[in-house]
Amino acid sequence: MPPDGPPLSARLAAALALVPRGARLADVGAGHARLALRAVRDGRVPSAVAIDRSAAALDAAANALAGDGGGPSITLRRGDGLLPLAPGEVDAVVCAGLGAAAMVGLLAAGRERLTGVVRLVMVPVGAAYPLRIWLRANGWAPVVERVVYDGGRAYEVVAAAPGDAEAPYRRALRRPGRAPAELPGAYDDALMRVGPVAARRASTDWLRHWRGEVGRWRALAADVRGEGPRADHRRADLSRRAAEVERVVDAAARYNSPSAPSAASDVAPEERGR
Ligand SMILES: C[S@@+](CC[C@H](N)C(=O)[O-])C[C@H]1O[C@@H](n2cnc3c(N)ncnc32)[C@H](O)[C@@H]1O
Repeated sequence: MPPDGPPLSARLAAALALVPRGARLADVGAGHARLALRAVRDGRVPSAVAIDRSAAALDAAANALAGDGGGPSITLRRGDGLLPLAPGEVDAVVCAGLGAAAMVGLLAAGRERLTGVVRLVMVPVGAAYPLRIWLRANGWAPVVERVVYDGGRAYEVVAAAPGDAEAPYRRALRRPGRAPAELPGAYDDALMRVGPVAARRASTDWLRHWRGEVGRWRALAADVRGEGPRADHRRADLSRRAAEVERVVDAAARYNSPSAPSAASDVAPEERGR
């Protein structure tokens, strides 16, 4: 093992890179607290609170800290979601390795603990769509979005900040001096699936992931067995979702083709240069 410990997985490294330098950090659902430990050890943050509801996970984290000089700056807390935090205690929150629905649950239950938090960094297992719906409805604007492949699996990395949560959706597929992409009203819902900031950049991994999802939904629709309203509804739902996301992905790819006039980024304009 290298002297500075095992390397972080690609998805955790991507999350850590989006934690503002100098922030007081909370890692919720921290598991073995690898991310918190690395953040403090590298000097990216001065302190971190690692929260987990599992005693076994926190025991493993305590063992890792015992062998590490960064230990004193890391507090381990057992509890549910954001509830072990005091309002104003941290500036940034990372949450990785939970499903988006569980993330929404802990954000909703701990809303007042987000007082003073300037950055959420979320890496759900599975689709981030429910998380984007919650962020948008609660005044959190996605500021950086990426798709990261780790162990052959795609992860959506979403960093959000308090602010105009509508702005990223308004400018997702618009460029100065160019007509907006011609898309139906449902494009707004599709953007919440694929990420409005990520769509501006349309990275190779983002395109690969979402084209794969479109193909998967179509295959699922073709596999729906039986007749009747339930089967019809399921087939129609999967087919519509595939068609809407495909239109958005194709439009994003066109906007970012080599002939597109303006440079694209997966970082929102107000975040650049930080
Ligand atoms: C798969 S592990 C992820 C660990 C680490 N964040 C990572 O991504 O590698 C999920 C962890 O979240 C913890 N967890 C799940 N729901 C939680 C909640 N509501 N509050 C605190 N911890 C939670 C579990 O106990 C588990 O240790």
